[in-house]
Amino acid sequence: MSAKRSMTLAAVALAVSLTATACGGSGNGDGSGGGTGKLEVFSWWTSGSESKALDVLFTKFKSDSNDQVVNAAVSGGGGSNAQQALQTRLQGGNPPDSWQLHPDQDLASAVEDGSVADITKLYDDNGWAAKLPETIAKMVQHDGKYYAVPVNAHRANVLWTNPKLLRQAGVTWDKSTTVETMIADLRKIKSTGKTPLCLGDKDVFASAQLLESLILSEVGPDGWTKLFAGQSPFDDAKVRTAVTDYVTLLGLVNSDHSALTWDQAALNVPKGKCAANLMGDWAYGEMVNKGFKEGTDFGYLAFPGTSDTFLFVGDAFVKPADNAPDPQAEDIWLKALLDPTVQKDFNLAKGSSPVRTDVSLDGFPPYQKAAAQDLRSLKIVSSVAHHQGAPAEFAQTYLDAVTALNGDKNVDAFVKKMTAAQQNLSG
Ligand code: GAL
Repeated sequence: MSAKRSMTLAAVALAVSLTATACGGSGNGDGSGGGTGKLEVFSWWTSGSESKALDVLFTKFKSDSNDQVVNAAVSGGGGSNAQQALQTRLQGGNPPDSWQLHPDQDLASAVEDGSVADITKLYDDNGWAAKLPETIAKMVQHDGKYYAVPVNAHRANVLWTNPKLLRQAGVTWDKSTTVETMIADLRKIKSTGKTPLCLGDKDVFASAQLLESLILSEVGPDGWTKLFAGQSPFDDAKVRTAVTDYVTLLGLVNSDHSALTWDQAALNVPKGKCAANLMGDWAYGEMVNKGFKEGTDFGYLAFPGTSDTFLFVGDAFVKPADNAPDPQAEDIWLKALLDPTVQKDFNLAKGSSPVRTDVSLDGFPPYQKAAAQDLRSLKIVSSVAHHQGAPAEFAQTYLDAVTALNGDKNVDAFVKKMTAAQQNLSG
């Protein structure tokens, strides 16, 4: 085990014991006599808005149960640190009560490795299937059984902008803006002495997400599905254009990008440190949580060329198939996630759209109302940068290839690696 990895695990253990102590130790569950008295929830939600949203879930659970909550969140945007720590625990037969993952192929990998429990009965007892959009209901199933409770729908292909900096450079972006125009405008902004594009890719998902928006812009939603199912080649003129544009964009980002987290980069937009940032709408939650106002402090548009697509990153929670610490408390937790009031309050804090179709959008700000509407009307494809839109190994190859591309800027090498990974997919 690497020193870094064992430090992460030690930090988790310490955080868990501190939180448990702070909660006053364990009681006897919900009074039924069989519980552990605590519910340990594993996630990677540690930024300001993420913690606030997580608290909404914890508060509801605590009002429905006598158990304490142990917040076992591991920092690191996009969850790569958390995933490693979680895998170690699962392999050691020591699962938390519940953990965060993404629907679709991320969940499929977890079902295939046998780590998550079948919760079809919970779905049937609560009539959840009828309350979810069909696409999302499908993404939390595997072979007709349900395995995860979704809490939200984040849109990944959003460009957040600083209205003042755009104005000063004479730049106007809207639905008709192309990637080519955007790049020309970013160069214009650079010539005014400002940083055109903010990037915070200390965790590689942020740059992987920027590249995937460029790919989506070139190939469109149907091309996207084929590409990541291995049915159309990575070695293709459109994909090459996207990767080449990505390398161009790397020349237009802040020089400290690899030292910044996604939330630091996102907040730099309304702070006026750069003109734009591509990030999922968890960035909306983060900016609003810091008191910034949409329309004045920051603007937004779908990433150029992708306004007809909802690039989807969902969050969901599961319970363990084996060695579940407290199945009864786990069910109370999973039920809390789809409570209508929780759906509203959680998503307001998180910047995402509710997954329950019967939750009123009254009281949601304009961005979130529009995103929720887009979720209902646009084509939905899953993000690969978040392991949601491709099998685990393929998604990891993509992330590793982006890491290499960030260093060597070698478009051919990137295409070659992804082509080889595609061959493994279909073969
Ligand atoms: C995503 C997750 C979001 C957000 C983001 C940054 O994987 O779905 O909820 O937290 O990571 O950490």
